[in-house]
Amino acid sequence: MKTWGFLFVACLGLISLMVLPEDGLFYRPEKWPKPLYNFDDNPLTLEGFNLGRALFYDPILSQDSTVSCASCHLQYTAFAHVDHPTSHGINSRIGKRNAPGLMNLAWYPTLHWDGGVLNLNGQAINPITHPDEMGETLEGVLKKLNRNRYYKTEFMKVFGADPIQTNHLLKALGQFTVSLVSSNSKYDSVLRKESNFNAQERRGYSLFIKHCNQCHTAPLFTNFEFKANGIGPNKQIIDSGRAMITGKASDAYLFRVPTLRNIEYSFPYMHDGRISKLKEVLAHYANSSNWQKPKSRELTQKKITLNVNEQKDLLSFLKTLSDKQFLFNQAFRFPRK
Ligand code: HEC
Ligand code: HEC
Repeated sequence: MKTWGFLFVACLGLISLMVLPEDGLFYRPEKWPKPLYNFDDNPLTLEGFNLGRALFYDPILSQDSTVSCASCHLQYTAFAHVDHPTSHGINSRIGKRNAPGLMNLAWYPTLHWDGGVLNLNGQAINPITHPDEMGETLEGVLKKLNRNRYYKTEFMKVFGADPIQTNHLLKALGQFTVSLVSSNSKYDSVLRKESNFNAQERRGYSLFIKHCNQCHTAPLFTNFEFKANGIGPNKQIIDSGRAMITGKASDAYLFRVPTLRNIEYSFPYMHDGRISKLKEVLAHYANSSNWQKPKSRELTQKKITLNVNEQKDLLSFLKTLSDKQFLFNQAFRFPRK
């Protein structure tokens, strides 16, 4: 009996390996909106994706060669940063914000918690040059890359580039980050009628539609708007969020609604990582009398109380948004050069 059980599990393992996307390159899931990323400007190739992946995992991009993109964006936690509430860069410098998970970026109209970055290809300049992140200059990185035999050859193959310039570096990173598509959670398989929610997940889903979907809108589980969810301003770290970009007082303490895909893994939570457990996030939403100002319209329209069982139901629905295929996709792992 035991042998059969083992064989069964081994077969399942083999099947799951076979259905993993082979190369990890971008794809558009069925029924999703059109992506906003301009693929004409940076046509994807497997070589370009692999080059972007090598750069993503290489500390060569930081000033003292200790920090890579992956130091703050870990695959197993949906490319978020889990060991600190806010990010942790060179010389142990601590940033102001929690590193968000990276997925489905082709659909993002703006990047960062305040929407201050408009283009995924340009985004990487921020971490590379930020003194609390990689603390390097673009000239410094390009000098190192142009001295490196592996990168010289690869950039030549992908972009015909000699010497390697800023736009080549950014486009290569863009080819990797834009390809991080997560669309194979249990929730997705239920939509495709390949599986079913259990009773608890189904109850959680109804609560979700009632209380959460206005802002965390499916299929991306964000409407990309700037909102306040009642956690109140952080008293230690001054961060006025969206207002820093628009200069409008009415945008103070608004942050971009984060996606909830893979949320089980991308702890800690909120723009400043102040909540460490998903259970505690649900406890926050469970009682509208605890909410602090500012609060967005969606949350002032009604009073909410969710009892402990309802919070458990919601939690079990949120876990259906975990996509193991994404979290363990070999194509996104540390590369072997
Ligand atoms: C020291 C930690 C750290 C490093 C290193 C780092 N990031 Fe980030 N990343 C962050 C933080 C924090 C944010 C959120 C910034 C904000 O909202 O102001 C972020 C945001 C992003 C975003 C936008 C995600 C979104 O939801 O809007 C992308 C894309 C990204 N990083 C890619 C990269 C790439 C590519 C690299 C390497 C070149 C990199 N990061 C290196 C911490 C880091
Ligand atoms: C008014 C729009 C709005 C509604 C409604 C809303 N949220 Fe949020 N949610 C946000 C915003 C904005 C943030 C980020 C807040 C911050 O960091 O300051 C957030 C953060 C979260 C986070 C943390 C995500 C992360 O990556 O850090 C979770 C989990 C979450 N919400 C779940 C829910 C659930 C469950 C519901 C329904 C009970 C809900 N939200 C209803 C706007 C909303």
